[in-house]
Amino acid sequence: MKFGYFDDLRKEYVINTPRTPYPWINYLGNQGFFSLISNTAGGYSFYMDARLRRITRYRYNNVPLDMGGRYFYINDNGTIWNPGWSPVKTELDEYECRHGMGYTIIKGKKNGLKAEVTFFVPQNYDGEVQQVVLTNEGTEAKSFSIFSIAEWCLWDAQDDCTNFQRNFSTGRVEIEGSTIYHVTEYRDRRNHYAFYTVNDEIDGYDTDRDSFLGSIYNGWDNPETVKADKPSNSFADGWSPVASHYKKVTLAPGESKTLIYILGYAENPQDKKFASEKPANLLTRETWVLNKEKAYAMIDKYNTPEKVAAGLEELRTTWDKLLSIFKVDTPDDKVNRMVNIWNQYQCMVTFNLSRSASYFESGIGRGMGFRDSNQDILGFVHQIPERARERLIDIASTQLSDGGCYHQYQPLTKKGNADIGGDFSDDPLWMILSVAAYIKETGDWGILDANVPFDDDPDGKHTMLEHLDVSFYHIVNNLGPHGLPLAMRADWNDCINLSCFSDTPGESFQTYTNPKFKAEGGYSKVAESAFVAALFTYTGPAYVGILEHLGKADEAAKAQAEIDKMKKNTMESAFDGDWFIRAYDANGEKMGSKECEEGKIFIEPQGFAVMSEIGKDVGADIKTLNSIDKYLNCEFGLVLNNPAYTKYYIQYGEISTYPGGYKENAGIFTHNNAWIICAEAYAGRGDKAFEYYSKIAPAFTEETSDIHKTEPYVYGQMIGGKDAKNFGQGKNSWLTGTAAWNMVAISQYILGVKPEFDGLRVDPSIPAAWDGFTATRQFRGDTYEITIKNPDHVNKGVKSLTVDGAAVDGCIVPVAGDGKTHKVEVVLG
Ligand code: BGC
Ligand code: NOJ
Repeated sequence: MKFGYFDDLRKEYVINTPRTPYPWINYLGNQGFFSLISNTAGGYSFYMDARLRRITRYRYNNVPLDMGGRYFYINDNGTIWNPGWSPVKTELDEYECRHGMGYTIIKGKKNGLKAEVTFFVPQNYDGEVQQVVLTNEGTEAKSFSIFSIAEWCLWDAQDDCTNFQRNFSTGRVEIEGSTIYHVTEYRDRRNHYAFYTVNDEIDGYDTDRDSFLGSIYNGWDNPETVKADKPSNSFADGWSPVASHYKKVTLAPGESKTLIYILGYAENPQDKKFASEKPANLLTRETWVLNKEKAYAMIDKYNTPEKVAAGLEELRTTWDKLLSIFKVDTPDDKVNRMVNIWNQYQCMVTFNLSRSASYFESGIGRGMGFRDSNQDILGFVHQIPERARERLIDIASTQLSDGGCYHQYQPLTKKGNADIGGDFSDDPLWMILSVAAYIKETGDWGILDANVPFDDDPDGKHTMLEHLDVSFYHIVNNLGPHGLPLAMRADWNDCINLSCFSDTPGESFQTYTNPKFKAEGGYSKVAESAFVAALFTYTGPAYVGILEHLGKADEAAKAQAEIDKMKKNTMESAFDGDWFIRAYDANGEKMGSKECEEGKIFIEPQGFAVMSEIGKDVGADIKTLNSIDKYLNCEFGLVLNNPAYTKYYIQYGEISTYPGGYKENAGIFTHNNAWIICAEAYAGRGDKAFEYYSKIAPAFTEETSDIHKTEPYVYGQMIGGKDAKNFGQGKNSWLTGTAAWNMVAISQYILGVKPEFDGLRVDPSIPAAWDGFTATRQFRGDTYEITIKNPDHVNKGVKSLTVDGAAVDGCIVPVAGDGKTHKVEVVLG
């Protein structure tokens, strides 16, 4: 069952009922000001950091779900409705929500009155513009009223939802004409404020939530002022400040009226915080006056429909440009819309927000993740490499000089989070991968010389290359009894916590390590991760390639020897006959082995082991891939492990606490499905790779949205596995490494267009049924128009490759570097 359709031409997903099986959201903004917006206009806004600069309030985990956002209420002679149906939920005569690239359009129609609201955050602008077009489609004149509402968050979202004894007494506002300013704490310790305005005279307002709702027992679905068609012109004083405009409108038949609302954020320098004069029309209870110059300028920027149209056009052009860097035309529409539009769009969102703010991440728990952000770069780097570079430097600056890393950092302060700390065994490796991806994309070797401090030596002069060195050797220097990397607190799988042994409620599996490991340095020196071993052998060659390029042959050889040794150790101690084990636990027992009672096979190490060709000479790669197919493959994707754990295994940590089929306990974790897709493609099994890809790629789940439930245009972190009651049900949509990795899987492994240090590799691994496909790739200043022909209907194998008609040996297109367009023709066979 579908709840909408893709409009590929406009790059939109069109939702045609407000009753989606879960709120289906979009993100507005991509640099400073961000908003989340659902198909019924729920959501919230923040500046830079969803925790420390929350602009509007949102109640997560609410009943009913998604009650709170920026809403418009229409009172049309007693019939009260919202253009997005919620929160009043009056049945609409027509409803439509179009989520596009950085904008959302919500249309509602009731009793001949149409309201079309366009929400977007213009480029380089710290505010959300909401253009409301009201049209009387009836045959008689209509008089009605429209109320807006936004509820302010008192800036720190964590504090806002816990520290009521203080917060209920701090709220402050100013009102000037049609603009309501939120100035809580501004006088004392903050230099930022927010405002909500409309480009017309208003007939009333509210700034105090309880006055707007009329009773503390009313919800957003039942505001007294709207019902009474009478604002209370309240002035907030502590409690919960809001911003609501009231406007009466009369429209002749066929007539339209446009109102432009702006929800903005601005900061003032310390010496310009206050205005010297108090304008006559200013409503305030303060003895000081906010300097509103920045707000005035922002309001002036989008106060007419022409200016709004120009802002939208700029946004469109920006996205058209971003999406023209890599474009494909394959025989499958669903692949095309994922690759050309939605997967790339999601990669921008995950790059911007890491795992901080979604409908499953509250924005207060985590800032930017070290491993998360490094992986996000893999899917994003081609879009805006300069931003990837800046991010790489930020991330690397939270690394410690011994190669360890802070696991997370706050985007606003760019400082590592001490409360979660470090010692996640995989973290450093992802940075080697992302820096290499950046160099492969751009050819900017200069980044290796960039000055990047260590967190524990903030003033020291260190280069990015040194960060790669310590990252690589952090693994080499922390090996366990089998010569495999120590698992430490966790590796990629946050829920395998081999040094935890937790039996007490409240101990966080992510931060708690059992005191028995104190003497050993904080974690078991026995527990080892076969996953990190495989990730090391997969990532290591990029580091070696970098050293070779720099002419450091000795260092390259030394690093290569470590990789070779790790492969040998892995084959000797971690190959279980038909697949690779997952780990050795702190008791030295195998995890993810045939010998185990449950959880005999895990997905994570397998893909990287196959792509590192560990044991390929004895057929370990194909055996492993076949085992995955046999034990992990099911209708909706590949489960993480099998059989699911049904008991609590204290020695494994969080993983077995989940009911079977959910999350890391045999859920379909789409992130690591991508690694298998890559591995199948790498091994030349394009049909299998595509089968797995099409099980999880969102566009392919559209028809079963009633089962899948989350947005059919973006990946979620997981899908209920075969052991789950809700088999096939998506969860944790939007902020997941799945976005980047599936972008890599489809573009670099299946379609096979892959940047390398010395050129653009074109080596597809596609379904044999395909006749071929075409792609356009901008790469290092040139444009490559690529045609793939598959006359023999093979999965993989480049028979010939020509660039502008001239044959090239192998499958790497050399960098032309002339800024021109080049024709690449590849025949498979
Ligand atoms: C979740 C992981 C998440 C981790 C860190 C765990 O409980 O299962 O997916 O990455 O917490 O927040
Ligand atoms: C989500 C986290 O963001 C990511 O870092 C982790 O690898 C996965 N969960 C798996 O546990």
